[in-house]
Amino acid sequence: MRMNGGGTVLSPANFLSFLRNKRYLLTIVVGIVYVLLFIIFFPFINNRSDYPGNVSPTSRQSARLFQAFGKAAALYVHFGAYRGGSDSFSVIGLGSKPTHVYSKPWFRCEWISNQDHVPNSYTKGKIFLPDWGYGRVYTVVVVNCTFQRNPNADNYGGKLFVYAFYSPSPLHYEKFFLLEEPPGSYDESRFRPPFKYDYLYCGSALFGSLNPRRVREWISYHAFFFGPNSHFMLYDAGGISADVKKVLDPWIELGRVTLQDVRRQEDYDSWYYNQFLILNDCLHQNRYTANWTFLFDVDEYIYLPDGSTLESVLEELEDYSQFTIEQNPMSGKLCVDDPSRNYPTEWGFEKLNFREDITGLWRDRKYAVKARNAYTVGVHMSEFLTGKTMHDTETKIRYYHYHGTTGYMGEVCRNIVPLPEKDNATWFEKAPYVYDDNLTRFAPVIKQFERQMIGSRQAFLD
Ligand SMILES: *[C@@H]1O[C@H](CO)[C@@H](O)[C@H](O)[C@H]1NC(C)=O
Ligand SMILES: *[C@@H]1O[C@H](CO)[C@@H](O)[C@H](O)[C@H]1NC(C)=O
Ligand SMILES: *[C@@H]1O[C@H](CO)[C@@H](O)[C@H](O)[C@H]1NC(C)=O
Ligand SMILES: *[C@@H]1O[C@H](CO)[C@@H](O)[C@H](O)[C@H]1NC(C)=O
Repeated sequence: MRMNGGGTVLSPANFLSFLRNKRYLLTIVVGIVYVLLFIIFFPFINNRSDYPGNVSPTSRQSARLFQAFGKAAALYVHFGAYRGGSDSFSVIGLGSKPTHVYSKPWFRCEWISNQDHVPNSYTKGKIFLPDWGYGRVYTVVVVNCTFQRNPNADNYGGKLFVYAFYSPSPLHYEKFFLLEEPPGSYDESRFRPPFKYDYLYCGSALFGSLNPRRVREWISYHAFFFGPNSHFMLYDAGGISADVKKVLDPWIELGRVTLQDVRRQEDYDSWYYNQFLILNDCLHQNRYTANWTFLFDVDEYIYLPDGSTLESVLEELEDYSQFTIEQNPMSGKLCVDDPSRNYPTEWGFEKLNFREDITGLWRDRKYAVKARNAYTVGVHMSEFLTGKTMHDTETKIRYYHYHGTTGYMGEVCRNIVPLPEKDNATWFEKAPYVYDDNLTRFAPVIKQFERQMIGSRQAFLD
């Protein structure tokens, strides 16, 4: 038998003479006593709560080490917290997705009044996961803290905190501050109409490189479309270059646009530039800001067929909490061969006149919602809300979608084709396109409106 790593051969005869040497025997006995003492006392010198006491001493000896380095996802990443009504608040953030799948974290909300003798109010938070199934390292977590009654009914003010628990066990948690209501600031009338705006636009995260021309056209069109009593919430996830900012600045100065910098979102890997996080933040920040909140993208243009007004359309939809809007998919490349037109000076929605005409296809929809009735929002509709949803709207309201145009910096008219005969289609990239210039007719009106509102401040793009 060969000993580990050594060259000595240990035969039975050698071993017996080794044991007969009393000095060695004593050493072995003392050694055994030491080992026994260590085994007996090990649980006490290594007295950690995560070391189960019912494991037998010998199996402890073979316990392997698990050395953790770094942290892959926080238990909770706080983004925003808002008053949600007379007795509720909403908390918007990200949670570690595996923790939500396997560990059942939960939240407890705490209100601490500014008045010393008033006891704290507590409630268990109701968790909503609006992007469930889409989350990545992080998933969006919306917590609804509804108290038995308004915890700030006396209007002395106070602070809202939340305890975020790692698992059903109440032992391990993080506690953090959410918001403060200063004395006298609570105003119940805020939750009843009339609201500040008729219409609010909640935009998703703007990322990548955006063509400032397209942004200019989009904001002018919709500032006109939604009218003076509307507002636009835009979120900058890196898409607002110096020129795009220059386009938005006059509208920001007029109070028509709010731009929020969310560039740090890139440190938190959730679905598609944290789109769900941002939309839900916009919803709850503005739950009582407008009659209707619209959610769509900056390459999409809302359109009302037959010259109807938005007010009359919404009157018909007044019984609903939300309605979805059907898409008119437009080519972002095709323009008609017409020598009388000067495409470089035309706006995108003015010159892109070919609508894809495949019927029976399911297409993404966009939507509008009464924010006060929604608990969370998604990209194509809200799945958690009170009240009815209407989908059958295609004769009332639609949107034109110019896919792939906002990120394209060159001239969009990349394929010039003859005007198709009436009721005939132009085939392009294996799809039929029909001529549709409904938005072209608005271009002169929108350009004039832009000049009225902000003068020639966009002239640097002409
Ligand atoms: C929270 O949920 C309650 C009903 O459970 C609802 O009345 C309230 O509006 C919700 N608040 C928010 C901010 O979503
Ligand atoms: C908004 O709602 C209020 C109250 O319900 C109503 O009086 C007003 O006409 C609405 N505005 C629009 C544009 O629908
Ligand atoms: C309609 O389009 C098809 C294929 O592009 C073409 O063959 C046909 O001649 C067109 N019909 C008319 C009336 O222009
Ligand atoms: C464009 O306008 C025409 C004329 O008003 C209408 O018949 C057609 O349905 C409109 N197209 C779309 C896609 O709404």
